[in-house]
Amino acid sequence: MRTKFFLGILGLLISATHNSVGGVEKSAHEIYEIRTTWDNQTVSTDDIVRLEFSSADNGLVIDISAPFYNDPKPSGNPGRQPGLWNYEVVEAFFLGPNNKYLELEFGPWGHYLALYLEGVHNVTNYDIPISHYTTSHSTTSSTWTGRAIIPSRFFPPGVNSFNAYSIHGVGKDRTYMSLFPVGFNTSANPDFHRLDRFQPINLSNFINVTTPMNP
Ligand SMILES: *[C@@H]1O[C@H](CO)[C@@H](O)[C@H](O)[C@H]1NC(C)=O
Ligand SMILES: *[C@@H]1O[C@H](CO)[C@@H](O)[C@H](O)[C@H]1NC(C)=O
Ligand SMILES: *[C@@H]1O[C@H](CO)[C@@H](O)[C@H](O)[C@H]1NC(C)=O
Ligand SMILES: *[C@@H]1O[C@H](CO)[C@@H](O)[C@H](O)[C@H]1NC(C)=O
Ligand SMILES: *[C@@H]1O[C@H](CO)[C@@H](O)[C@H](O)[C@H]1NC(C)=O
Repeated sequence: MRTKFFLGILGLLISATHNSVGGVEKSAHEIYEIRTTWDNQTVSTDDIVRLEFSSADNGLVIDISAPFYNDPKPSGNPGRQPGLWNYEVVEAFFLGPNNKYLELEFGPWGHYLALYLEGVHNVTNYDIPISHYTTSHSTTSSTWTGRAIIPSRFFPPGVNSFNAYSIHGVGKDRTYMSLFPVGFNTSANPDFHRLDRFQPINLSNFINVTTPMNP
């Protein structure tokens, strides 16, 4: 079981608890890299998206480091952006028992979207507020970074698996990437709600969902 778990986490580079950096106790963090399309085609190294999870007071810190494609920008101000999945975006989904899951989406311009679902594609809250999301990039640089802090109470109780995604490009160049892909399939369309593809994660180094909002 443990072997299978680690084989599944091909994208996991570092899983460290309390490693000492320059004498300063650095808290736990995990790094994942999205290296495949949604249907398991290897992407160019220029397209790799990196996510790092660590801990804040009562929340999960998500640090994103991604290529910047400068796709068309959402017209809305930074902040909550309905339909963010139609733009350049990095996503992470966290799943608990009974198919309850949190869907998080982040754009390079400071837009986000956070949804809660109960059952596949069954959104029960379209409007979870994320008060901390900041980004950094310039139109001349080829990468962007983002940092979100997601309060523990927004996660499904018993959260135990996840997947992460990235979308970029316009029209025929639109590219859908997954950390944990489905098998190569020329006839299917990308679907990020394939909960059967999610892989285990133990978030208790970062958060404990003691008082879930059950949004
Ligand atoms: C969608 O969620 C609602 C609210 O929890 C629930 O009543 C309903 O059964 C769910 N539908 C599906 C198809 O899961
Ligand atoms: C994805 O491809 C790799 C080899 O390139 C293979 O080992 C792995 O099993 C594939 N995953 C799926 C879900 O098909
Ligand atoms: C490919 O996708 C189609 C349409 O969703 C599905 O019917 C078929 O079973 C899939 N094939 C494989 C090998 O997963
Ligand atoms: C998750 O990690 C915590 C702290 O390291 C540990 O106590 C717990 O047993 C782990 N849970 C699972 C399901 O592995
Ligand atoms: C969560 O609970 C586990 C088990 O009690 C504990 O080991 C861990 O340190 C806690 N994590 C946080 C972030 O408080």
